Amino acid sequence: MVSSRAKKVTTHTLQEMKRSGEKITMLTAYDYSLARLVDGAGVDVILVGDSASNVMAGNDTTVPITLEHMIYHAQCVVNAVDRSLVVVDMPFGSYQGDSKLALKSAIRIMKESGGHAVKIEGGKEIVDSIRRILKAGIPVMGHLGLTPQSIYKFGTYSVRAKEEEEAEKLMEDAIALQEAGCFSVVFEKIPADLAKRASESLSIPTIGIGAGVHCDGQVLVLHDMLGITKDFSPRFLRRYADIGESIDGAVRGYINDVRGGDFPREEESY
Ligand code: KIV
Repeated sequence: MVSSRAKKVTTHTLQEMKRSGEKITMLTAYDYSLARLVDGAGVDVILVGDSASNVMAGNDTTVPITLEHMIYHAQCVVNAVDRSLVVVDMPFGSYQGDSKLALKSAIRIMKESGGHAVKIEGGKEIVDSIRRILKAGIPVMGHLGLTPQSIYKFGTYSVRAKEEEEAEKLMEDAIALQEAGCFSVVFEKIPADLAKRASESLSIPTIGIGAGVHCDGQVLVLHDMLGITKDFSPRFLRRYADIGESIDGAVRGYINDVRGGDFPREEESY
C-alpha cells in the first residue's frame, strides 16, 4: 500500500500502486477552484483533459481546442494542486504525424503550465512522437480505445474493439506504448474482458473509463460525475452529486430575493 496520503503523487507512485494492487483514482479538472477541491479530497491524478473543449467551451467535440487553451487550463489547475499528479492532454493538431511538432508542443505544455506529464491519443502510429517526448524527460500517458480526437474518422462514440481484429490491434498498441516508455495508459470505452486481459498483460497501470472494473484505476470527467453536465448519460457514468440542481436552485433563489427586495438586507449592507 502507498503509505502517505499527503505525499505528492508521481508517475512512480502510480507504478507502485499497480504493483501493490491499490486502485488509482483520476478525475478531470480545468480551473483553479474545482481543482483545489479535487486535490484536497485526495484524488491521485488530475487530468486537464481536452474534454475542456466540451465542458468548458461548449464545443461538440474535442477537435477545436488549441494548445494555448490547454496551457491556460493547465496553469489554473497547477496553481491549485498540492498533492495530485497533473497530466495535461495534448490537443488535436499538436502532435499528429510530426514527432518534432509533438516534442515542441509537449515542451510548451510543461514549461508554460507547470504540468507534470502529458497524455496523447493513439497507438503504434504515434510511437515516434512518444519516444521523442520521453527523451526530453517528459512523462507520457497513452490513450487507446475510444479516442475522441479521431471522432470524424470513426463517426460514432460507440464501444471500441468489440471485434477480435480490433481487440488484437488494441493489445498490440498497448504493448507498443509500454515498450516506448509510457508510464500509464487510459482505456476508453472498450469491453471489460479486453481491459482485464490488457491490464494483466501490461506492467504499466491502466486507467479505465467505460472499460470495466479490472483496470488499475478509473477516470471520469468531473462535470459529468458531479451532475453539472446533464445531456450526457452513457452507461459507464455514475453521478455522485447533482450540483446542476443545486446551482439551479441557488440561482433561482437569488433572482427571487433580488426581485422581491429581500436581498440585500440591512445586515448585508454597510
Ligand atoms: O479529455 C478527457 O477528459 C479524457 C478522459 C475522458 C480520459 O481524455
